[in-house]
Amino acid sequence: MSENGRDGAYAPIEAWFRSYVDEFRGADGALPGPLEFKLAHSARVAENSSLIAAGLGLPGGEAALARAAGLLHDAGRFTQYAGHGSFIDARSLDHGLEGRRVLEEKARPLFSCGAAFGRLLCAVQYHNRKAEDLPSGLPPADNSLLLLVRDADKLDIMNGLIGSVETDGFKGLQVMVPDIALSRELSPGVLEAAARGETLALKDLHTLADIMVMVAGWFKDLNYTPARQAASDRGFLSRLRRQLPESQGLDALFSSLAKTEAQPGRKYIGDVDS
Ligand SMILES: [Fe+2]
Repeated sequence: MSENGRDGAYAPIEAWFRSYVDEFRGADGALPGPLEFKLAHSARVAENSSLIAAGLGLPGGEAALARAAGLLHDAGRFTQYAGHGSFIDARSLDHGLEGRRVLEEKARPLFSCGAAFGRLLCAVQYHNRKAEDLPSGLPPADNSLLLLVRDADKLDIMNGLIGSVETDGFKGLQVMVPDIALSRELSPGVLEAAARGETLALKDLHTLADIMVMVAGWFKDLNYTPARQAASDRGFLSRLRRQLPESQGLDALFSSLAKTEAQPGRKYIGDVDS
């Protein structure tokens, strides 16, 4: 097993994913822009999953499964966009559940271990749920992988959002979600909800500033120390704060987020002994 999870077991999964994505290309071989973005996002979430797995010291098989779950977590985005032309789950379908459906239908032969495939399906199905809406009572090994993929996904979205805002004010956002205005003003109630610790949902947001506040709030939801460390190393919170207006309420929100700690006592419990 290689240290970043790219080993013999991972290669066929990566190849399958490429051919799956090819189904959504047009006659000219190009993907629609939003799906090109999701393809690149998937590869980066795989990288982030490997980074977290390495930080947690996971053994090779577990690290490869984490990388595969990161790569495949948004499999449902492709059918979602092809069928509905939207990435807003509330107006189309639950793309986590859809990803599970797609993978159950098409990817089962890639996994020799049914238990590992089941854990990956669980991570895909629930990766997009609000933290407070996650099912309780998942088997610990399933839960551990799910939490890792959620962290890896959030790291990439945070990174992409901040980089795009810094580069050009995130002009590309309106390709993804045309209903969101590129304004740096917060919509009524957004700051208050974030200050209460509520997890904001895209369907309730109207401006780029709202989205930045939503994404800043994810910092407190990062589960594992290596993910928290990566977010700190990349300066996510301070960089987001610089892109938002002067406001004592925002200052207070960001300083309280910076003081949150990785989920206390959260340990990765993988199927590492089997
Ligand atoms: Fe997703």
